[in-house]
Amino acid sequence: MQKFEVLECEYAVRGEIVALAQRMEKELLINPGSHAFDEILYCNIGNPHSLGQQPITFFREVLALCEHPSLLERNEIKGLFSEDAIKRASQILKQIPGKATGAYSHSQGIKELRDAIAEGIKARDDFPADPNDIFLTNGASPAVHLVMQLLISTEKDGILCPIPQYPLYSASIALHGGTLVPYYLDEASGWGLEISELKKQLESAKSKGISVRALVVINPGNPTGQVLTKENQEQIVKFCKQEGLVLLADEVYQANIYVPDKKFHSFKKISRSMGYGEKDISLVSFQSVSKGYYGECGKRGGYMEITGFSADVREQIYKVASVNLCSNISGQILASLVMNPPKVGDHIYESYCAERDGILSSLARRAKRLEAAFNSLENVTCNKAEGAMYLFPCIKLPEKAIKAAEEADTTPDTFYCRQLLNATGVVVVPGSGFGQVAGTWHFRCTVLPPENKIPDVVSRLTDFHKAFMNEYRD
Ligand SMILES: Cc1ncc(COP(=O)(O)O)c(C=O)c1O
Repeated sequence: MQKFEVLECEYAVRGEIVALAQRMEKELLINPGSHAFDEILYCNIGNPHSLGQQPITFFREVLALCEHPSLLERNEIKGLFSEDAIKRASQILKQIPGKATGAYSHSQGIKELRDAIAEGIKARDDFPADPNDIFLTNGASPAVHLVMQLLISTEKDGILCPIPQYPLYSASIALHGGTLVPYYLDEASGWGLEISELKKQLESAKSKGISVRALVVINPGNPTGQVLTKENQEQIVKFCKQEGLVLLADEVYQANIYVPDKKFHSFKKISRSMGYGEKDISLVSFQSVSKGYYGECGKRGGYMEITGFSADVREQIYKVASVNLCSNISGQILASLVMNPPKVGDHIYESYCAERDGILSSLARRAKRLEAAFNSLENVTCNKAEGAMYLFPCIKLPEKAIKAAEEADTTPDTFYCRQLLNATGVVVVPGSGFGQVAGTWHFRCTVLPPENKIPDVVSRLTDFHKAFMNEYRD
């Protein structure tokens, strides 16, 4: 049984290079010394805890108490858990009928947790949020699939997507049988998003009979790491309103900003501050517990906030959410904590801030260190990682390397990444998995390896690159 849409779908961040790395890891375990390095350094995927990032204590305390409520009745509880966690867990449990975290919830998620998220959105944006607009999901990925399922009925339905893009989008559009309409981010201007490019691609799609339904914007960007300016966001909102496009705002990296001159603004805040209300623009904002300083990828929590849709479209969204019954309850609780963390005046506030800021400042240092290392390599240029968890350097590969890749029946960027892995154990993802301007070659490297391993990543990469260039320089 082979379904065309499934055959079409690709997911590079867990692709060929990673499979090879996993094989090598097993070989190292069975036969230490079988490779020129003693460990594989995974820089391929935005999975922070797998690389040693620690969970936020308050979040885990609340989760533990919610998962096992009888702990709250034990005498020793006050010595084991913080007062704030006990208070928050008790509040949450009161909102769950029978304190049953093992039960299904409302299809959109527990109402009181959605209330907490709506409050968090309001505090973030200074504009109100409605808990009925929030759908809790098992991470952002199922939310994206759900929306694509509703937007796409035939291959004539197009979705404007950035190139490079996070392959969830290309995969989801392929799985649902739609057409990805690419718009290229401008590498020369720090991965800028030009409205003229959006217009050009929209017109070109229309001339091919494609009906473009939505525009995907990933901010902060993956794999590109840029943070959009407020002015640019305003232009995007205006463009969507003019063209009647649904704006799909992937805002999962909203807490990952590393430069003082950039700030995260949600697209909902931008559109409301431009005076646009429900009737003016249809907007979906995706958020996740997987990223930020929390990084709880395996807990599978997130939500989408949908605004500006008619009652019948909302009904369809609700129906599809109901077919999936509900998202997992721990993920729901975490999403409420992420959007409504400890506040000034809470006993735990200072230690929570210290954990949060410690993680974010370390990520910023790692990003800077890697960016400088890439920029020091021959034929490599790398834009600033302003946010998210990735760098996407461009490598000008010599003709000889391109020929060697052709002979090895692979793309030049995959050839480079494979050689890098074989020589050093460093795992990065070839740019072709995200899309890139034809004839340019990139790879994506996460900034997530532990800070004390970054010098090792840098020296392995640098030595490899020098040797590679010596072998293939034209
Ligand atoms: C831009 C972007 N959106 C969505 C996701 C999906 O995250 P999750 O399903 O874990 O929430 C990711 C994961 O890396 C991502 O980078």
